Amino acid sequence: MQKGKIRIAIAGIGNCASALIQGIHYYTPERCREGVVGLMHREIGGYLPCDIEVVAAFDVDARKVGTDVHRAIFAKPNCTKIFQADIPDSGVIVKMGQVLDGISEHMADYSEDRTFVRSDAVELTKAEIVAELKRTGAEVLLNYMPVGSEQAARFYAECALEAGLAFVNNMPVFIASDKAFADRFKARNLPIVGDDIKSQVGATITHRVLTDLFAKRGVKLLRTYQLNTGGNTDFLNMKNQARLVSKKTSKTEAVQAVAHKRIEDENIHVGPSDYVPWQNDNKLCFIRMEGHLFGDVPMDIELRLSVEDSPNSAGVVIDMIRCCKLALDNGIGGVLEGPSAYFCKHPPVQYTDDDAYQMTETFIRGNTLKLAVAK
Ligand SMILES: NC(=O)c1ccc[n+]([C@@H]2O[C@H](COP(=O)([O-])OP(=O)(O)OC[C@H]3O[C@@H](n4cnc5c(N)ncnc54)[C@H](O)[C@@H]3O)[C@@H](O)[C@H]2O)c1
Repeated sequence: MQKGKIRIAIAGIGNCASALIQGIHYYTPERCREGVVGLMHREIGGYLPCDIEVVAAFDVDARKVGTDVHRAIFAKPNCTKIFQADIPDSGVIVKMGQVLDGISEHMADYSEDRTFVRSDAVELTKAEIVAELKRTGAEVLLNYMPVGSEQAARFYAECALEAGLAFVNNMPVFIASDKAFADRFKARNLPIVGDDIKSQVGATITHRVLTDLFAKRGVKLLRTYQLNTGGNTDFLNMKNQARLVSKKTSKTEAVQAVAHKRIEDENIHVGPSDYVPWQNDNKLCFIRMEGHLFGDVPMDIELRLSVEDSPNSAGVVIDMIRCCKLALDNGIGGVLEGPSAYFCKHPPVQYTDDDAYQMTETFIRGNTLKLAVAK
């Protein structure tokens, strides 16, 4: 079943947006036919990754605003791996958004190549952003604000509500998991998936799977940590501890949610741990888990994960977008519960990854079938 396009708008043309847009162009119909490496779903509701089209884009960095979005994704300080360099211009120029709290002050202490450079273009008003979303016929807005951008994330969520768009909240400002916000998306019959991407094979899902293993095998998890280092702007931004509160909650609760018994606060440490410039978009994660097994005998596990951070996130966002479109096609609004639990660290309701996977598959199969029957 082949369908039309999915028209998306993006707020924040950083590394994650770069990997996503590269992926849209990498997964051609031919490549999808050949046997798909790196996708959880070749097709969702009849949509292939290449059916996604960026029709509007917003940023605040001088090297991105005013540039074609397909060039902006390769502008500094973006540093993710380039796996699809050959992307024609889109004709979509990145517009100046509203800065609000999007740029942390400590970024000014680093070189221009590493950090954000505020554009001197005039900020668009909310009414102008809403008008742009409507003019371009965008159907889904992706929020890729830096961690700690509480005002900016809520601002773009308000724009989506006002313009009548579905919303994918890729970062840890709580919007899908905030009841008041979720109810407003429901009232407008607009789908929302969030909060905070749980990457394909990232630190969170790996830590959750091992925590679930301990629980299912009767091993008492006494102590655990997850330390992460990276060299992209996401990690640099997170050096500002004041911006980290929601990220720490999102990451810690994702692990706590699958523990047999809640781990005492002093015995669990999950967090972004340091910025190492030469790592660029490579993220290293170190997990240690200490427990007691049969006969109360101690055991421990240590694990090191090395992964390119942004493609790891894009492999999930490519499905979040298509689930939103499937919901729009079926007239479904509000939080998509299964997809939010499967694709995000901080959904409104936490399920085990097995249950969330089943709920997501049921959502996709059921709604695809409904569309086929309606035809
Ligand atoms: N694996 C992953 O990479 C991963 C996983 C989970 C969540 N996330 C989250 O996704 C978000 C985006 O990550 P990233 O690596 O692309 O970050 P990034 O720093 O590369 O990109 C952020 C972009 O937002 C722009 N921006 C800042 N303030 C803005 C504003 N007010 N309006 C418009 N644009 C603004 C910046 O100029 C930059 O281009 C982060 O919050 C990150 O924590 C990423």
